[in-house]
Amino acid sequence: MTLEASALQGRLCALLGADSVLTEPGDCAPFLVDHLGRCRGRARAVVQPRSTAQVAQVLELCDAERIGVVPHGGNTSYCGGPIPDDSGNQLVLSLRRLNRIRSVDPDNYSLIAEAGCLLAQVQAAAEAAERFFPLSIGSQGSCQIGGNLSTNAGGVNVLRYGMTRDLVLGLEVVLPGGRVLDGLTTLRKDNTGYDIKSLFLGAEGTLGVITAASFRLFPQIRVRATALAAIGEVRAAVRLLAQLRAASGERVSSFELIPRVGIELTSRHIPGVSDPLATAHPWYVLCELSSSRPGEPLDEVLEEALAAALADGVVLDAVVVRSERERAALWKLRETIPEAQRHEGASLKHDISLPVASLPDFVARAAAWVATHVPEGRLVAYGHVGDGNLHFNISQLPGTDRERFLARAAEIRRAIHDLVREFAGSFSAEHGVGRLKVGELERYASPVELELMRAVKRGFDPHGIMNPGKVLREP
Ligand code: MLT
Ligand code: ZN
Repeated sequence: MTLEASALQGRLCALLGADSVLTEPGDCAPFLVDHLGRCRGRARAVVQPRSTAQVAQVLELCDAERIGVVPHGGNTSYCGGPIPDDSGNQLVLSLRRLNRIRSVDPDNYSLIAEAGCLLAQVQAAAEAAERFFPLSIGSQGSCQIGGNLSTNAGGVNVLRYGMTRDLVLGLEVVLPGGRVLDGLTTLRKDNTGYDIKSLFLGAEGTLGVITAASFRLFPQIRVRATALAAIGEVRAAVRLLAQLRAASGERVSSFELIPRVGIELTSRHIPGVSDPLATAHPWYVLCELSSSRPGEPLDEVLEEALAAALADGVVLDAVVVRSERERAALWKLRETIPEAQRHEGASLKHDISLPVASLPDFVARAAAWVATHVPEGRLVAYGHVGDGNLHFNISQLPGTDRERFLARAAEIRRAIHDLVREFAGSFSAEHGVGRLKVGELERYASPVELELMRAVKRGFDPHGIMNPGKVLREP
């Protein structure tokens, strides 16, 4: 054990001020459990620095004293990345007070935000400058942009704009030991050696602490057309997407798959959600076209494409929204599926991706496996089908035993992820590795990949203080 608890507390208080160091159990509690209650830990303290310089002081101290540091954002992640282990030796570093938009440059289509800004705050800052920041996820009112960067978050606009990584121009990062990588460039082209910033994106705080980022912005969206289309099978979703992309001149910005059970669960558990179509169908896609060109007739484009798809049997029924209220209702239906699943009972989550064209065969095989081997659960597979990313979740059936269902998690995960590998997919499309999927990375990454990842970890963090045990077990 390094520094005594009281000595560490004294040093931290001297660096940051006493009001920035939490040690009372009640104050620390929210930082020690994830939002699903699946990951818990203990910590020496929770610190809440107010500036990059203070983050640097904390990392200098912790590196010298070999104290593990767990960066913590909005705590909306699914893999336990921001939760310390149960040793009680680690320090949680909350970024919530680094919450300034440092600058917005509409002419350069760029913006600089600190890590603790809420995603919704970044979107609003862009909007106020008549620009668009496209990262959009269900938790945008509470997740922090630093966490989005650290997990390379995805969401509902990836199809058009890419993952968080694709939106980043530069980063400011505090390294273990306290040096600051000052890389807040807003350049679009910069071929000067290794792309160091890229290593921090998706590293989940294991290489350093991202304190700010410069982002690319886009023209503000002026027109949208949104529809819910009912389909009979996943293959129809893949065909409809291909047709819509071609017919709309690449205006498709979201293309989300919803299973029938998604409508049933949200209608049951979420006030204000109901089935917008008259009859039930096995699957649905929520598709949205968008454009920055005022007056572009996207409703017409969407209606024509859906009419053609109805005529040739790809689509079985469809509703195109007529107002912002109707649009919000459709998005609510989609975005509250995870919440509705929580109300229904325990669920086993699998955040997988596959080549889009392989999705129908994968879903057929995997759904058959679930039906045979998991009679106490039912498949709730939904998500970003346009990106080949499904949340292939299994919800406990009402009346079944929660603990017994959860006890099968590892066995079920293994079967599903092995099948994903057979289809050349990924076991983590957008939720990261955290601490829950460390074993999966060891199983599915190649020895060469693992060797390179460990070398990067050792190079950036030789004393292993950054979010220990996350992504990689101790190197
Ligand atoms: C979503 O797309 O709704 C989220 O990524 C959450 C989930 O996995 O359920
Ligand atoms: Zn998702």
